[in-house]
Amino acid sequence: MTRRSACVAFNAAVLAACLGPVSPLNASPLSGDDPDQALDQRAGGSVGEESSAGPYVRSHERHVVITGGNSGIGKATAVALAGMGMHITLACRNQARGNAAAADISEKTGNDSVRSMLCDLASLRSVREFAENYQKTGRPLDVLVNNAGIMACPQMFTEDGFEMQLGVNHMGHFLLTSLLLGTLASSATPGRRTRVVNVSSQAHQLGSIDFDDLNFQGKRKYGRWEAYAQSKLANILFTKELTRRCAERQVPIDANALHPGVVDTQLVRYLLPAQLLEARDKDPTKSSAFAKFIGLRTPEEGSSTVVYLASSPYVEGVSGGYYDDSKPAEPSKLAKDPDLASRLWTVSQELTSAPDFETSLSVPTKTALWLLPT
Ligand SMILES: NC(=O)c1ccc[n+]([C@@H]2O[C@H](COP(=O)([O-])OP(=O)(O)OC[C@H]3O[C@@H](n4cnc5c(N)ncnc54)[C@H](OP(=O)(O)O)[C@@H]3O)[C@@H](O)[C@H]2O)c1
Repeated sequence: MTRRSACVAFNAAVLAACLGPVSPLNASPLSGDDPDQALDQRAGGSVGEESSAGPYVRSHERHVVITGGNSGIGKATAVALAGMGMHITLACRNQARGNAAAADISEKTGNDSVRSMLCDLASLRSVREFAENYQKTGRPLDVLVNNAGIMACPQMFTEDGFEMQLGVNHMGHFLLTSLLLGTLASSATPGRRTRVVNVSSQAHQLGSIDFDDLNFQGKRKYGRWEAYAQSKLANILFTKELTRRCAERQVPIDANALHPGVVDTQLVRYLLPAQLLEARDKDPTKSSAFAKFIGLRTPEEGSSTVVYLASSPYVEGVSGGYYDDSKPAEPSKLAKDPDLASRLWTVSQELTSAPDFETSLSVPTKTALWLLPT
């Protein structure tokens, strides 16, 4: 084994230890099925039909926003959902990378309805602009996939002063979801709820939330894995509290979180030496063969649980879960603590100046047009 391969193997081992066991992939029970057809059967009618709950005007296809959809698991998710005929918006921090990915996804799937819009989760201003621009399009929103993430970076801070991993992985997504809640709620139709899918990680098991020092600027010494684990725990707590709030007010939105497995993506950018990353980009085939050899999943395999939660009729009406291999899994004790979840929501709302839950649910004018009786 060369020094380079030994280095990759070492990091893979660290990753496996932090992210969870590399387990064989379970095929989604629905892979290859038409999700609309299956959902319609479960909902007991045909999508777009007038129902007893009232008339509505809706496209039968679904509109999806995927953060970080230009690479890795997010892009593979976009390819799968675009292949099912859904309308895809990639929310990306770099417009050129986003546009290139959108063009590539369209070419691969023959779906022209794939676009990219700017959204830097490390900037609350950018998140607000994205939400406003999305609402201006008047499109409904059936599925929001909060996928973008960074892992184990050196100590850095977002534009708004959050520790980078907490800021991007949790706070940015918290504000984004809050701002799009009204659009999600108003996009539900009789017999079909809308969905939020939060890409967490098995690494949440190592995490805790320290409200006295969320950004590692006080008593805590910065630890890159500790910060990642905190942010991934926050993803699950956010999922639980969103579910609780929606259930309490009968809002037709389901939210679930997941661990995608240990996947061969760019996520390791802060762990591998620059030369290795360059070598990997130069010869992706060799690099993927090696990744496969050491048991990493491909991005397509890693996206399977995301795709399942975003599209399967088996999870229609199911909310507040944590999934691994498209099956419910047991998250950590802290991830199931309702008081912690509620406190995190309150603190996140305050720190991001997100609208409160009731205000978030007010229907943006343009989207409301989709619901008007004809
Ligand atoms: N890979 C794994 O083994 C693994 C395991 C458990 C959980 N996960 C989770 O899976 C998710 C996807 O990661 P991945 O493995 O697919 O990694 P990836 O290939 O690095 O993709 C991450 C995506 O997030 C985007 N992103 C990063 N910072 C952003 C920001 N400030 N604003 C908007 N977008 C930003 C990246 O954009 P750029 O391309 O512009 O950098 C990229 O599109 C993450 O939430 C990660 O925590 C991954």
